[in-house]
Amino acid sequence: MQRKLILGNWKMHGSTESNAALLAAIRERMSRENTNVDVGVCVPAIFVEQARSALQGSAVAWGVQDVSAHVQGAFTGEISAAMVAGFQATFAIVGHSERRANHGETALVVGEKARQALVAGLVPVVCVGETLAEREAGATDAVVRAQLAAVLEAISVDDAKKIVVAYEPVWAIGTGRSASVDEAQATHAGLRSVLREYDAGLDKLRILYGGSIKPDNASALLDCDGIDGGLIGGASLKSADFISIIEAAASLHADDSLHVG
Ligand code: PGA
Repeated sequence: MQRKLILGNWKMHGSTESNAALLAAIRERMSRENTNVDVGVCVPAIFVEQARSALQGSAVAWGVQDVSAHVQGAFTGEISAAMVAGFQATFAIVGHSERRANHGETALVVGEKARQALVAGLVPVVCVGETLAEREAGATDAVVRAQLAAVLEAISVDDAKKIVVAYEPVWAIGTGRSASVDEAQATHAGLRSVLREYDAGLDKLRILYGGSIKPDNASALLDCDGIDGGLIGGASLKSADFISIIEAAASLHADDSLHVG
């Protein structure tokens, strides 16, 4: 079993005061024994400097939830991957369903964002996932395969070896209704086969599951060979919940072949 990656996605939550306590608690947990797990937090971009100063020198990585598809220029309000990399960030989530749905991000734009993240030396966490209507229409596999393929087409094979994939069914995000282990494993297997078909060297990429992971379902979801970690939204905002998910991952037997961050 691969070493798991537990990533927090804070979304648009936090304040300088509440972040300080949360970051300190995560840092403290990862300074103890049994850290057989990789951990990171993807914070609102305005808090990247706070994350950097609270976490540098620790076993916890930091990153953002989006980057621009452009290198630089007249793009008011956008933040480039290179700017983020200047704060020693590791991760950039790209293609989260909330950005696809609320900001009209197409598969092409998501591919370009992943490419820009890689150029800047960030690890893109490429999110894919189907809506409830797509699942009910039996289109889950086709939808997530197409979303992943669009990113692979935008980047080189060598760069593809550096990405993390996150399967996040839209109907499971923030709803309290997680995918079952069987549902997640089946979709992960489809994504794994897209990666393998693209290049045999992508066999070891991490595919995270995200969507209502909580302390009470984390062990069951993470204790699966095909599920290489979790992207955690709501439960990453409470230190006790996030740390309990870290504990669930750390307690699994894993080799450390893929240390990121
Ligand atoms: P959730 O969010 O854990 O609150 O469902 C996950 C995500 O959107 O990344």
